[in-house]
Amino acid sequence: MPSGITQTEAHKKFPAALVRWQKKHGRHDLPWQQTSDPYRIWLSEIMLQQTQVQTVIPYYARFLASFPTVAALASAPLEDVLTLWAGLGYYARARNLHACARTVVSEYGGQFPADPEILTTLPGIGRSTAAAIAVFAFKQRAAILDGNVKRVFCRVFGIDGIPATTAVDKSLWLLADTLLPKKDVGAYTQGLMDLGATCCTRSKPRCDSCPMKSFCAALATNRVSELPHRKTKGKLPVRTARVWLIRDDAHVWLERRQACGIWGGLLSLPDAESVRLPANATELPGTQVRHKFTHFELQAEVARYEVRTAPSALNHRRELGAYLLAEAEALALPTPWRKLLIAERNQKS
Ligand code: ADE
Repeated sequence: MPSGITQTEAHKKFPAALVRWQKKHGRHDLPWQQTSDPYRIWLSEIMLQQTQVQTVIPYYARFLASFPTVAALASAPLEDVLTLWAGLGYYARARNLHACARTVVSEYGGQFPADPEILTTLPGIGRSTAAAIAVFAFKQRAAILDGNVKRVFCRVFGIDGIPATTAVDKSLWLLADTLLPKKDVGAYTQGLMDLGATCCTRSKPRCDSCPMKSFCAALATNRVSELPHRKTKGKLPVRTARVWLIRDDAHVWLERRQACGIWGGLLSLPDAESVRLPANATELPGTQVRHKFTHFELQAEVARYEVRTAPSALNHRRELGAYLLAEAEALALPTPWRKLLIAERNQKS
């Protein structure tokens, strides 16, 4: 504890200081702040779960242009949803989004429930997302706690443990509930997000302009860069794959993966085992792909072939189709494959 400051003092000052700061210095013009439509707020919160605001904004606009209502989203084929999601990553979010829209339509008459506890029973909505939706769309009183908020709490209140552990997580949730003010919950909640995104950032935090600087435990003890403590990173497990890039001048052959698994429902380069090449396929120099996902590293050998055969003549076991290389950016592909196809196209032309 910094000299002269007690935990209770910081606890007491934090909520009002945050609300005051948010009203003056926080963000007020984000697209999802211009609405109280629960569908639009829910969509923004799902997109923002693992992705930064600036990346989300154009996806959000395109998504709403295609699916203006939860009913429109629920009646769309999953493939169309995945296509609009392509590039945002973490595709389980898109599959859950679609499942959630269908549940809201079939179980709740197309109206999102306002109770955060009920919201958490829907696909893709965890405790913090449920609270954010309940606060912004329904003016409920509920506490959020995402990665940014954990960082703010760990610093301001000098929490020494590792936030990923159960015990620390539990005490952070308790803190989140305790700090939640009785009124101004909307500005307070937005303030937590804004402070974490614009001031109390992971690297190079702007402590000079922070509303908590007079009582921040980390600042007073010179530990801002130390907190929150990070999990010591183990090496990511490696997954190997052998895939085929089969192309003609303008197309590439892709398969649609089964609906389950991490890339369920997405397009993919076909596994070397699943396709029989036509007799006239010419082998081109192969290439390798390495890509780090959150939970594993992909190391793939890519064998490249040029074909001069109509797609229907290509024997296959799984759903395989020819796609225009010119449209590689827009295909619902995992990121490493999309990058590979863009490089493939640019190298030929
Ligand atoms: N991150 C998560 N939810 C957000 C929101 N509503 N506004 C800005 N950033 C966010």
